[in-house]
Amino acid sequence: NQDQLKQLVGEAARDEVLKLAAGQIIGVGTGSTVNYFIDALAPHVDHFAGTVSSSNATTERLLKHGFSVLDPNSVSSLPAYVDGADEIDADGNMIKGGGGALTREKIIASMAKQFICICDTSKQVPTLGKFALPVEIIPLAQGVVARKLEKLGGVVTLRLAKNTRLDLEQTPSQPFVTDNGGWILDIAGLVITDPLLLESQINQIAGVISVGLFAQEKASILLVSGTSGVSRITF
Ligand code: A5P
Repeated sequence: NQDQLKQLVGEAARDEVLKLAAGQIIGVGTGSTVNYFIDALAPHVDHFAGTVSSSNATTERLLKHGFSVLDPNSVSSLPAYVDGADEIDADGNMIKGGGGALTREKIIASMAKQFICICDTSKQVPTLGKFALPVEIIPLAQGVVARKLEKLGGVVTLRLAKNTRLDLEQTPSQPFVTDNGGWILDIAGLVITDPLLLESQINQIAGVISVGLFAQEKASILLVSGTSGVSRITF
C-alpha cells in the first residue's frame, strides 16, 4: 500500500544521505513521506552535525529523535535537502505546498547543493497542474492577489484550516495560517507548460510570499517508489 511505498523511499533517502561525508548538515522537508525518512534516519543521528528544518511539524519530529535543529542563518553550507512533492514532472519541476510549508521549503532548497525528492509513482505527472498550485500570501493582500492569479486561467480559493494536510490545531472554518503567519491561495485547473516562466510571473505579484512551483529550485535527484521497488533518477 501507499504507506509501504513511502516507507521504502524514506529508507532509500536515508541510504542516499548516508553516502555524504560525516559531520555535515542536512535539510529536512515536510510531509508524510519525509516523516518516514526522519524515522529511518534516527539511528544515524551521529552521522550529521545537525539539520535545518522546513516546518514546525518537522522540527518537532527531529527533536524527538535527538537531532539538533539549527537556525538557517547559522548555516553556510548545505550538501543536501530531502523533501517530498505533490507533483513532479519528467524534468524534475515540482508542485509543493500541499502541507502549507512551501516558503520555508523553498528557502532551504535554495540553500542546498542537491534537492533529493522522495515520492511514490502516483506523484509523477507529464504536465504539472492537476494538483492545485499553492501560493503563500500576506493576508491583507488576499483580494488583489486572488484577482491577479485568476487571470492566469485557474480557479483560486483561499485555503481553510480543514483543507491542509498538516495536523494542526487551528479552527477548521478559518483560513489556514502558515508557520510564517501567511495565508494560502490554491489555484486549481492550471496546465503548466512553462514552470519556470509561471514561477517568475507569480513571484512578481506584490503580496505573494512564495509559490509552490519549484522550477528554479527543481529536484536534482528523484527517488521514486513503485510496485517494482525504488528508482533513482538524476536531472
Ligand atoms: C509540504 O508543504 C509539501 O510540500 C510536501 O512536501 C508535500 O505535500 C508531500 O507530502 P506527502 O509526502 O505527505 O505526500
